[in-house]
Amino acid sequence: MRKIAVLNQKGGVGKTTTVVNIAAALANMGQRVLVIDLDPQGHLTTHFGVDPETIEAGAYKVLMQSANIEQEMLLVRANLWLLPANIDLVGAESELVSVVGRETILREALAGLEDKLDYLLVDCAPSLGLLTLNSLAAAEEVLIPLQPHFLALQGLGKLLQTVELVNKRINPKLRVKGVLLCMFDSRASLPKEVKADIEQFLDNARGTDSAWSQAQIMPVYVRRNIKLAEAPSYGQTIFEYEPNCHGAEDYRKVAEFIHNPIAFSVEPFEVAGNEPPPVEIKEVPLSNSQEPVSEFTPAADDTPLESEQQV
Ligand SMILES: Nc1ncnc2c1ncn2[C@@H]1O[C@H](COP(=O)(O)OP(=O)(O)O)[C@@H](O)[C@H]1O
Ligand SMILES: [Mg+2]
Repeated sequence: MRKIAVLNQKGGVGKTTTVVNIAAALANMGQRVLVIDLDPQGHLTTHFGVDPETIEAGAYKVLMQSANIEQEMLLVRANLWLLPANIDLVGAESELVSVVGRETILREALAGLEDKLDYLLVDCAPSLGLLTLNSLAAAEEVLIPLQPHFLALQGLGKLLQTVELVNKRINPKLRVKGVLLCMFDSRASLPKEVKADIEQFLDNARGTDSAWSQAQIMPVYVRRNIKLAEAPSYGQTIFEYEPNCHGAEDYRKVAEFIHNPIAFSVEPFEVAGNEPPPVEIKEVPLSNSQEPVSEFTPAADDTPLESEQQV
């Protein structure tokens, strides 16, 4: 079983959307997938159409060691199981404070599932507390969704330090695999600058023994797409809600890349997103000069932003 923690201590960067739709794409490919909601907000649970108020606190009970994980897993789609959560999970941090080995409860709970499933994806809480430590102790790969805006790098150092600490103290197998750019707007210039900054940041760890020395920006990224924001309120994955939109196309490619990066031969960073509109260079003579000057005109400046398109 491949075990992937989807982690970023910032809220609203695309963690839950990423877990739901990568899991759904993998399950559609015939992989047996378990997703775990480790965020007390229960968004992952809701996104699969399960009302957090109706559940008997699945992830909470598992962490409190009062339930077996297999009893709490709900089959929510073909090949796809959910360990749900609700607000009860908030209590776990304080209730476990004096429990020895509290960081590895989830890992131990999962031991019996190793051969029964192909993938585990954990939707982490937006914090670096005990819930997140449990997911990092249980996982072997970390995927960091990141929204490419100018504060994107803020907090990344702290996140990587936490991964490093867990790697050195509790889980030597843990590695940061990739940064997934979410809500990417290829028409803006900023994402390219942010991407360069992240690359620089990751490059500093190359050749070291750090847990993120092999981390890369994934060559597939997820465009901003309104359908991805609408799907959760219907309790549907993007493949159910709008299977032909950009969001579905992008997450399908991300899942294919995760599943088989070698077979997925693509030009880095040109797969899932569309490139910015081509720029035409027009020669415009100035009235008081014979020297032509260049004027840059976006070829498609009346194209609506992707977020406005009804895809
Ligand atoms: N690619 C995208 N395009 C448009 N909206 C998105 C996209 N990804 C996520 N969203 C929306 O942005 C908000 C935050 O995403 P979410 O996955 O819940 O983040 P997190 O779990 O990190 O808090 C949600 O309303 C979600 O529907
Ligand atoms: Mg979330």
